[in-house]
Amino acid sequence: MASSGQRVVLITGCSSGIGLQIAVLLAKDEKKRYHVIATMRDLKKKDKLVEAAGEAYGKTLTLQPLDVCSDESVQQCINSVKDRHIDILINNAGIGLLGPIESISMEEMKKVFETNFFGVVRMIKEVMPDMKKRRSGHIVVMSSVMGLQGVVFNDVYTASKFAMEGFCESLAVQLLKFNVNVSLMEPGPVHTEFETKMMEDVAKMDYPGADADTVRYFKDVYMPSSMDIFEAMGQTPEDIAKCTKKVIEASRPRFRNLTNSLYTPIVALKYADETGGLSVNTFYNLLFNFGPLMHITMTILKCLTCSCLRRRTISPN
Ligand SMILES: NC(=O)c1ccc[n+]([C@@H]2O[C@H](COP(=O)([O-])OP(=O)(O)OC[C@H]3O[C@@H](n4cnc5c(N)ncnc54)[C@H](OP(=O)(O)O)[C@@H]3O)[C@@H](O)[C@H]2O)c1
Repeated sequence: MASSGQRVVLITGCSSGIGLQIAVLLAKDEKKRYHVIATMRDLKKKDKLVEAAGEAYGKTLTLQPLDVCSDESVQQCINSVKDRHIDILINNAGIGLLGPIESISMEEMKKVFETNFFGVVRMIKEVMPDMKKRRSGHIVVMSSVMGLQGVVFNDVYTASKFAMEGFCESLAVQLLKFNVNVSLMEPGPVHTEFETKMMEDVAKMDYPGADADTVRYFKDVYMPSSMDIFEAMGQTPEDIAKCTKKVIEASRPRFRNLTNSLYTPIVALKYADETGGLSVNTFYNLLFNFGPLMHITMTILKCLTCSCLRRRTISPN
């Protein structure tokens, strides 16, 4: 249970990756300012978190089951919190989906929205009324740079993050009146199981319904570029956890938080040309016309982006 003065932080999707690192970083806060309720849909996956939390487990970090796709699970979890009092809600749970849309069933697409969009909405609906009553709280949502800029062959995942951005942008205005802050974290690529799971899914895919050209563009053009980008621009989940801690500790938390400044010019493209032509044509050329050049650029970038040279919009350090 949280002791007086501690802020109660509830985080979704803590079995791995970014959620796990945020939970551990906050639970190990030197001044013990946080009581972390780390949640995951399957408690059988708790070992990695428990090990990483070390002595904080059972003290500043407790575990609860929570599936963001289930009304019942969400209600049970929030009801189990003393007085339903949550100071900071971190909506981290999410799934990816990659590939030509012809090969992806409607069921798979709906699952992405059910988790990445409705999962967050479900959490916010359950927690927000108490925050509004108390005139205090902070809702953090793990969006993505893909919530700001579409990326080829990530159509459905990107759409789910765009939906989240629109939802939060609208809600943030109302909640400010109740002294409740909303913040979006917008990482670029991060080295977690997310990446591994997607690569495994892609390897298993046999692309039913997609024509041979599309499959070739996906496998032979997009995938190698994507791997180059991950290699050159990828952050660690620890980086994102540090950025998130900064955001929740700010006296006036920012609404948008790009965690990787290498993406700032990419996102700026769409605002530089209201017709959208600049960003669509730039990404088209990068992928289909300048593939080899892009590979070289990413290789150079990889050499240049050691932590001493890289400047980030929200620096994790
Ligand atoms: N990695 C990246 O490149 C990247 C970039 C930008 C944004 N993000 C976002 O960052 C967030 C965390 O991703 P990650 O990179 O840390 O990936 P990850 O290691 O795969 O973690 C995702 C977490 O979400 C959980 N989850 C999935 N469905 C759930 C559900 N229905 N209920 C509760 N938990 C559920 C997973 O639990 P299980 O173990 O049970 O599956 C896992 O704990 C996601 O929202 C993702 O979209 C990731």
